[in-house]
Amino acid sequence: MGLRLKYNIALFLACLIGLLAAAAISYSIVQKSAVEEVKRSANLVRANALAVRSYTVNNIDPLLSDNNDVLFLPETVAAFSAQTVFATLQKQFPEFDYKEAALDPTNLADLPNELEKSLINQLRDDPDLEQISTIVEKEGNKFLTIAFPLTIKQKGCLACHSTPDAAPPAMIDLYGPDHGFGWKLGETVGAQIITAPMAIADKRARETGIILIAGFTVVFILVFAITNFMLGRIVLRPVRLMSSAAEKVSMGDFSVPEYKKPGNDEISSLSLSFNRVRRSLERAMSMIDD
Ligand code: HEC
Repeated sequence: MGLRLKYNIALFLACLIGLLAAAAISYSIVQKSAVEEVKRSANLVRANALAVRSYTVNNIDPLLSDNNDVLFLPETVAAFSAQTVFATLQKQFPEFDYKEAALDPTNLADLPNELEKSLINQLRDDPDLEQISTIVEKEGNKFLTIAFPLTIKQKGCLACHSTPDAAPPAMIDLYGPDHGFGWKLGETVGAQIITAPMAIADKRARETGIILIAGFTVVFILVFAITNFMLGRIVLRPVRLMSSAAEKVSMGDFSVPEYKKPGNDEISSLSLSFNRVRRSLERAMSMIDD
């Protein structure tokens, strides 16, 4: 096996291992940043919902809730307005979803599905959890679902969510006395559940991964080409010339011209030494002939 082949096999193996390692590392980095990106967009949806909630509580409720006992306006309820505003937003971003789900909801439209129920239960079991997320697949597309706990922190919530007797009668007329009651201060009754699509971030992650791998491949090809060229010029060609000269000299043929490799690297000094050995040999031979 020639030197060039040995060198190329070693280089190829090193490049292959390097490329695989680079692919694995870049895949995990890119995947992580894709999840971060989806989380950012989910946080934006949540921030919008929280803003609508606080606008409803601080600006709308004081104006409209005086008549709650007679005429109950759901528009004064933060959970209602946050979800209604999101429904409008969703027309432009149908792949996103926002829901305020509760295990025993006032509005049955807020009943959680199995996944949402398990997220709410996990948040109830661990009060220190600020959020939990999971990746779900729907019709072949991946989505990130994040749940933030909805905990009863203010006594005011119990005016409508403790017992049907305490709640405004007009609200009972609208929603009935069977759901959304019995909640306690400090209890996590449900969760804000946001679903955001992974497809766009995934696609970008794949593209970035492909660009990275292509970049590495180009670098490796360049390394291959340049080092092969250098190997030929600096090592292989001079060694081949010296070896064919040595072959002839060893047979007593001193007619081949002396070869001196330009420069002052190891091969150059080898070519000089070889020439000296050759001259000594030539002298010795001619002395014997004499
Ligand atoms: C004036 C009565 C009233 C008050 C006060 C009130 N809620 Fe509600 N809440 C409702 C009604 C009515 C709904 C159903 C709204 C709808 O139709 O979406 C609701 C819905 C919810 C929901 C969505 C799940 C469900 O039950 O349908 C959550 C969560 C919730 N409320 C939490 C709270 C919290 C937390 C507070 C205190 C900060 C609070 N509520 C204060 C009346 C009230």
